[in-house]
Amino acid sequence: MNNKITSVVAGATKENFREEVLAGLSQSPRQLPYKFFYDELGAQLFQQICDLPEYYVTRTEIEILRLHGADMAKAIGPQIELIGLGTGAGTKTRILLEELHDPAVYVPIDISKEQLEKSSARFREMFPALQVLPVWVDYLEPFELPLPRRLSSRTVIYFPGSTIGNFEPETASEFLARLVDLAGDGGGLLIGVDLQKDRDVLERAYNDAAGVTAQFNKNLLVRANRELGADFDLNRWQHHAIYNSTEGRIEIYLISDNEQTVHIGAREFQFRAGEEILTEYSYKHTIAGFIDLARQAGFHFEQVWTDGARWFGVFYFTVAN
Ligand code: AVI
Repeated sequence: MNNKITSVVAGATKENFREEVLAGLSQSPRQLPYKFFYDELGAQLFQQICDLPEYYVTRTEIEILRLHGADMAKAIGPQIELIGLGTGAGTKTRILLEELHDPAVYVPIDISKEQLEKSSARFREMFPALQVLPVWVDYLEPFELPLPRRLSSRTVIYFPGSTIGNFEPETASEFLARLVDLAGDGGGLLIGVDLQKDRDVLERAYNDAAGVTAQFNKNLLVRANRELGADFDLNRWQHHAIYNSTEGRIEIYLISDNEQTVHIGAREFQFRAGEEILTEYSYKHTIAGFIDLARQAGFHFEQVWTDGARWFGVFYFTVAN
């Protein structure tokens, strides 16, 4: 049994955090990159978000997997190598693996080493015939796949959680093109995508009553204070999420509630009252729009499964042989 974790690439290092924070705050309009949300506390807060009554995303995707997992397994076929991108604790992957027919290899890829170790141990126990080959890496960076012991019929990538929604269309398109190469000839992609819906539902999901999303958003400032010696006063920043229906995206901001000066090491930044820092986009696609995006990247559309309200879609695409 291979218990080793292959490959290590540290994507979100302290050095590029400093560089990207300074560059983002020097831009107009100002921005902080969302990829730095996920330190240990950020990952915990995101777990809490997934359980919030207003955040329908996780619940709905799981419901679709439970309802249509058997159908997905049929479309995907037997003895595959499954590559899980950012699959975290593995709740959704487990539902999928239970439905798949004799899956040969599972390669979970995640930036959190702890999550990887824990979920890999659990999957080895639950699926003794499955070879589990975890890769600890930032999947946004180039990486190599480990060599499996078992032969598989094809490679299928699983990318749940609508993480693709946090990419701007151009980046999403480039990333999908990379996935075409990763899946290879005859391979597939099963991907969870949040869909366009009522503004109220969307804005409630990202401005929850308990303030967990606000805490998640402000964690970027907490990190900057701790890791870069910044002096953001958390009480002087407000979380705000708004749906931009023209662009089809939730936009998440931190708003300065007053005129203020913030120091980051030797650098000084002046903020006006009401000035915004953009921290995240969360794109909401239409079914046709997402099929188009994937098609342009080189995928062939096979099928989509949704919930009754069509709030979320799990799409299956393939790569021609
Ligand atoms: C990870 N990602 C899909 C989440 C989303 O819904 O865009 C991140 C998130 N940001 C605020 N709430 C959740």
